[in-house]
Amino acid sequence: MFTSKCPSRRRVSRRGLLRLAAGACAAAVGLGAYARYIEPYWYEIVERPLPLHNLPPETIGLKLVQLSDIHVGKTDADYLRHALRSVERLEPDILVITGDFISYHTVGGAMQLARAMRDLKLAKIATLGCLGNHDYGHKWRDARVGDAVARVLKETGVRVLRNETANVRGVQFLGLDDLWGPNFAPARMMNTLSPGAPSIALCHNPDACDLPFWNKYRGWILSGHTHGGQCRPPFLPPPILPVSNRRYVAGEYALSGGRTLYINRALGWARQIRLNVRPEITLFRLAGA
Ligand SMILES: [Fe+2]
Repeated sequence: MFTSKCPSRRRVSRRGLLRLAAGACAAAVGLGAYARYIEPYWYEIVERPLPLHNLPPETIGLKLVQLSDIHVGKTDADYLRHALRSVERLEPDILVITGDFISYHTVGGAMQLARAMRDLKLAKIATLGCLGNHDYGHKWRDARVGDAVARVLKETGVRVLRNETANVRGVQFLGLDDLWGPNFAPARMMNTLSPGAPSIALCHNPDACDLPFWNKYRGWILSGHTHGGQCRPPFLPPPILPVSNRRYVAGEYALSGGRTLYINRALGWARQIRLNVRPEITLFRLAGA
């Protein structure tokens, strides 16, 4: 115990406390700088198998790259250019982009997207996409913004699936329009699916997985939207998630009816901050189930 009889020890103690406070301040500033200026730019290439039933033998081993939430207009343009170059080096056979191409609320965002897409190298076989809530502008309800984004993507060579399907080398791709947008209408498309065909759905918002329209759909669902929460304390879930089902954060989930959901942590940002949730480019390899 420190007493007035021991002034030197009391002085040391005060100095120690000051040092501790200064250290805590420096750590907080360092952590803030890391979350703002380092981690948002530190993308990770995540490699995973994507097993599918009834996959044609010639498609086994194909590389499918998923990008999500590139948020042109908010995401740093140089960073995005660098990331797209990395995607090009992966030499994907199929490239899918699961929504939130832009982050602006006017059709002007589509013009920015056109500039950014000049750096996108299309995949060898097919480049597909679906729209996200940010692609629909103000309050996610402006169909003109969504149409302008889809038009730019079509001119770039990206096939945007808006409640549509596409057959790529015997794999059935489904593109759902965004759950919060004005064109979400997957029910009719679900009735046109070939049962038993290997299937991959592109669906920006994973909350759509909990709706009853999936019928007998069996296959993968590739999503984004959550950005993995962007900031996540160790061993705890992220405090902010834009989904009703808070189980949906990031990574792979086995769902009912033989469905598998994968949520990509996003490449870009609407707010430039990330902590313990690095941006992601996903490299899948198609495999037989
Ligand atoms: Fe997003």
